[in-house]
Amino acid sequence: MYKLIICTSLLLFTNNVYADMHTAKQLFDENDCTKCHNVEKFKYRKDKVNNFEKLNTMVDACANGTNTGWFEEEVQDVSSYLNHKYYHFKVKADK
Ligand code: HEC
Repeated sequence: MYKLIICTSLLLFTNNVYADMHTAKQLFDENDCTKCHNVEKFKYRKDKVNNFEKLNTMVDACANGTNTGWFEEEVQDVSSYLNHKYYHFKVKADK
């Protein structure tokens, strides 16, 4: 019985992380971020944005500048998504 509970919660947990990534991608795609950004360029900008905190700050600035209405959590999710896909900075809570 306990094993079943552990398995189920593991499964739910994994699903959750995946769902977050999926939502973050949607958030990014649906908010005109790509109007100004050629995403392929993200990975060549390491001179300027060279850690996750800076990445998060830039996402926050752009999200505010474009009136996305994102909360901190959404900014965080999109930063994680961009990090996962392009930047690959080491983060303690990387998804
Ligand atoms: C009106 C144009 C515009 C829009 C729309 C925009 N950005 Fe930006 N973004 C910029 C500019 C300008 C910079 C600064 C580039 C620089 O430092 O040279 C920037 C920088 C960034 C960076 C850092 C890039 C790097 O590695 O140097 C990230 C990440 C980013 N934006 C994410 C986003 C996200 C997420 C959105 C959607 C909410 C978004 N941007 C929408 C103009 C825009």
